[in-house]
Amino acid sequence: MVGESADISAELERLRTLVNHHNHQYHALDAPTISDAEFDKMFRELKTLEEQYPDLITDDSPTQRVGTEPLSSFSQIVHELPMLSLDNAFDEDDVRDFERRVMNRLQTEDTIEFACEPKIDGVAVSLLYEDGKLVRGATRGDGTTGEDITTNVRTIKSIPLELIGKGYPARLEVRGEVYFPRSAFARMNELAASKGERVFATPRNTAAGSLRQLDSRMTASRGLSMFCYSVGLVEGSDLPEKHSQILERLKSWGMRINPLIQVKPGARGCSEYYMDIQSRRESLDYDIDGVVYKVDRLDQQQSLGMLTRTPRWAIAHKFAPAEGWTVLRDVEFQVGRTGAVTPVARLEPVNIGGVTISNASLHNMDEIARLELLVGDTVLIQRAGDVIPKIISVDRKKRPDDAREIKLPAECPVCGSEINRVEDEVIFRCSAGLACSAQRKESIWHFSSRLAMDIDGLGKKLIDQLVEASLVENPADLYQLTEEQLLPLERMAPKSVDNLLTALENSKETTLEKFIYALGIQETGESTARGLAAHFGDLPPLRAATREELEFIPDIGPIVAAKIYSFLHQESNSKVIDDLIARGVHWEPVATDRLANELNGQTWVLTGTLSTLTRNEAKARLQSLGARVSGSVSAKTDCVVAGSAAGSKLVKAEKLGVEVIDEDLLISLLERYNA
Ligand code: IVH
Repeated sequence: MVGESADISAELERLRTLVNHHNHQYHALDAPTISDAEFDKMFRELKTLEEQYPDLITDDSPTQRVGTEPLSSFSQIVHELPMLSLDNAFDEDDVRDFERRVMNRLQTEDTIEFACEPKIDGVAVSLLYEDGKLVRGATRGDGTTGEDITTNVRTIKSIPLELIGKGYPARLEVRGEVYFPRSAFARMNELAASKGERVFATPRNTAAGSLRQLDSRMTASRGLSMFCYSVGLVEGSDLPEKHSQILERLKSWGMRINPLIQVKPGARGCSEYYMDIQSRRESLDYDIDGVVYKVDRLDQQQSLGMLTRTPRWAIAHKFAPAEGWTVLRDVEFQVGRTGAVTPVARLEPVNIGGVTISNASLHNMDEIARLELLVGDTVLIQRAGDVIPKIISVDRKKRPDDAREIKLPAECPVCGSEINRVEDEVIFRCSAGLACSAQRKESIWHFSSRLAMDIDGLGKKLIDQLVEASLVENPADLYQLTEEQLLPLERMAPKSVDNLLTALENSKETTLEKFIYALGIQETGESTARGLAAHFGDLPPLRAATREELEFIPDIGPIVAAKIYSFLHQESNSKVIDDLIARGVHWEPVATDRLANELNGQTWVLTGTLSTLTRNEAKARLQSLGARVSGSVSAKTDCVVAGSAAGSKLVKAEKLGVEVIDEDLLISLLERYNA
């Protein structure tokens, strides 16, 4: 019998060590040595004892992995060493080229040893251990700056809160990929579907969303896992000389390492590995989108060095998108949020890469014409990552005699209004706007989606009911719903009504970027919304902006600018925005000083070959500082960056007296402003 407090502490410590040990066996090594029931019993014992002595609960007790009170926002962290990305190889030639580049740079003809690893399709995370204790978890962010997600990573059971064994460095940063196990993902979606709630699209996106939950209790409920694949910062002691040995070492300290990692000789060995992993792909409990080859010797990695964002010593060999043949049974027309009437292919169900596909996107009527597609045709379907499957070709030889033409309906299939083709667009739209119930439903669905206002519990079926009962005509109406209106609806028990009203209340606190995105302006996706928020900082300046000012924002051209302008100036939209704000939707204005640099508003031109940046990368980084990047030099150009072999644009710039700089100067400028 434990009587004294010292005895209780010792007993708690014993139970914690035991629970941690079995957690590690189960979650990190995938090798449990006791049954789930035995584990549960042990865990409950610990929990009960802690409940009796709450003062003795420690932060790193395994019972504390359930999450904590929600944060109001994530703080930013700057990675002490940047988190790099990987260059891609798409076929064996690319892999051989990679091997050649490596051997040439190392000036060796000896076979290079490569550590070969599955490329986990998840979210990169950095974990910092100080004196063996997990002190910080961070997202990759843009590679330089990420978000502090410590409270969330602490809920992931395959991440040790404390390292085991000995000899670990005093400060050790471990990097890896957090992912949503396929089995847990399927279970969660089944549950959501059975409750008529939104199902999640892909494990990867859901893992990313789960990691960025301000409420870590939500993260805890998701059952995420992690594989570690490298170290970042290491201080206080040395690590072995090979990457593969470092991974072994990490494993001995309790980190979860992918069991399929192997060291292989040369490009030939890598290709063998690729085939092997590809053949096992579907049997894994996690998504992979390729394999990664890393030069195993660290001294060789060191001499190879890196380019701006990718190391020269590693490459990702991507899997080809999965494809399969099936028959097009029918084409139906759906009406989207902006009234676009889009054809959707209904297919004879076919298994492609482990997923049953019965629908595919057809984009628009021009696409149907381009494919010369008829109903009844045998079609090739491609499924790449998390995008909607698409039809890529037709087997004309298999066309049946009764194959039938695909015709655009004469009127909106939902509300019967006229359908118009907008000038210069390939899209046909229902002309009824929010008077069309399909558009109303879709715009409310979009408004409430995760990346927009994130209103939990507002599923498609409920939106259907709200619109059909005329309880909600526009997003602002959502914030006037009452218990009395919701209770009589199908599947709405007092508890779910209460949850929905709370979710609506919580959603009122948002960010400008999410709010702009939620409005559902045509052509204004997440990244445009982000650009608008970063540029204007708050809604009033955006509402006051002219078309020209909008066009000045990176990635916004005249067409998009016109759409945004006319949306914001349409009376009914203005009223919805005013109502939303009057009903309590609010956000913190964004500081726009990122754009307080001399490049903001300037026009730049890139010409010639750049050696350390790709042209797209240079363009994106310039744009992030507010500069426009144009394809041609004129008197309005502020600056031309001339790489090697620059030709006529350079001549023209010199003639016009436009400032010309070289790549080094560009890079130092970009670095000065952290672009
Ligand atoms: S190594 C310098 N190894 O792929 C090396 N990355 O496309 C940086 N990833 O940002 C990463 N599995 O998020 C590495 N076994 C693996 C990986 C892996 C997945 C992700 C990682 C990285 C991205 C690059």
